[in-house]
Amino acid sequence: MGSKKQYKSKRRPRVADNPELQEYDYHLPVMLKECLDALMVLGNHGVYIDGTLGGGGHTSHILARLENDGTLISYDADPDAIAHCKEKFHEILEQTPSKLSLRQSNFVSMIEDAIPNDSISGVLLDLGVSSRQLDKGQRGISYRFNTKLDMRFGPNGQTAEELLQTVEEGQLHHILRGFGEEPFARIIARRIIERRRAAPLQSTYDLRLIIEECVPPHLASKSLARVFQALRIAVNGELDVLEATIRGIIPKLKKGGRIVIMSYHSLEDRIVKHVFKELASKQDDAIPTIHILTNKPIEASEEEIARNPRARTAKLRIAEKC
Ligand SMILES: C[S@@+](CC[C@H](N)C(=O)[O-])C[C@H]1O[C@@H](n2cnc3c(N)ncnc32)[C@H](O)[C@@H]1O
Repeated sequence: MGSKKQYKSKRRPRVADNPELQEYDYHLPVMLKECLDALMVLGNHGVYIDGTLGGGGHTSHILARLENDGTLISYDADPDAIAHCKEKFHEILEQTPSKLSLRQSNFVSMIEDAIPNDSISGVLLDLGVSSRQLDKGQRGISYRFNTKLDMRFGPNGQTAEELLQTVEEGQLHHILRGFGEEPFARIIARRIIERRRAAPLQSTYDLRLIIEECVPPHLASKSLARVFQALRIAVNGELDVLEATIRGIIPKLKKGGRIVIMSYHSLEDRIVKHVFKELASKQDDAIPTIHILTNKPIEASEEEIARNPRARTAKLRIAEKC
C-alpha cells in the first residue's frame, strides 16, 4: 500500500484555462527568452535560421532583435504555416525583403540550400507540431477530429493512409513500439492488418476505433496519443531528418554560432543528446566540433507551464560550434 505511486491530484492546466492562448490562433512560443538568448549570442546582424516557423512566434521575436542588414531564413513544411506567416510578416517582406526568407520545405533542406559554410550565426529548431495543427484537426494529426488519415506536415511523400495500406505487420509493430513506446503495439498492429483486408483505413476515426477495440477503456486516450504520434513520426521521417540536420548544419555555422533545439518527447530529446555528444567528442581536426552548453536540458518554469500547457514536456538543448 505504502509503495503505491502517488499521483499529483492537481489537474493539468488546459488551453481553455488561458484567454491569451484561446486568442492565439497558433502556437504560443515556448521558452521564448531562453531560446533567443541562447540563439543570438553573435549579435543582431548576420544570418539566422528558424527551421520550424509554425505560427511565426519565435520568428517574430528573432526579427524584432535582428537589425535590417541581418537575415532570417524560416522553414516550414506546412503550406498553411507559410501562408499564415506571409500575411503576418507582409510589411517586413515588402519593406525589407532581404531580412526574411520564408521557405516551404522540410528543414533538412537547409543543409542542401545554397548557404555557404561558416556563415550562419544560429539555428533554432522547435520540433513537432504546432497548436494549430493539433487543435484545428488539420492534416489528420490529432485523433480528436475525424479527418483524412494524412499526417504529413507538407504535401509531399506517403500519407498515413498509404503507409497503413502497405506496411507489413512486423514493421508496423516496430513503428508503434519504437516511435510511440506503445505497450499494446503488437495487438494493434495485428488488428490494423486484419481490418485493412476488408477495407482500407481512410479516416482518423477508422484508426481510432481499432485502437479503442484493442485497449482497455481507461488506457485508451494514452494509446491513441502514442499511436498517432508514432505514425506521424514514421510518415514524416522525423527522427531521421533531425539527426541529418544536426550533423549537416554544423559546417555551415560560424565559429561560436549556436544550434538550439527544443523537443517535446523523449525520442527526439535522446537523438539531440546523443548526436551532440558524438559531435562534441570528435577528435578529428578535419571535422568541426561543438561544445555542449546544456549537460541537462533546460525546462520551462512552473509559471510558464501554468500559462502555456504545451511547455510542460519541452526540453531545450544548446550547443556551440568550436
Ligand atoms: C512546434 S511548431 C513551431 C512553432 C513556432 N516555433 C512558433 O513559435 O510559432 C513546429 C512546426 O514545425 C514544422 N515542422 C516540424 N518538423 C518539420 C520538418 N522536418 N521540416 C519542416 N517543418 C517542420 C511543423 O509543421 C510545425 O509548423
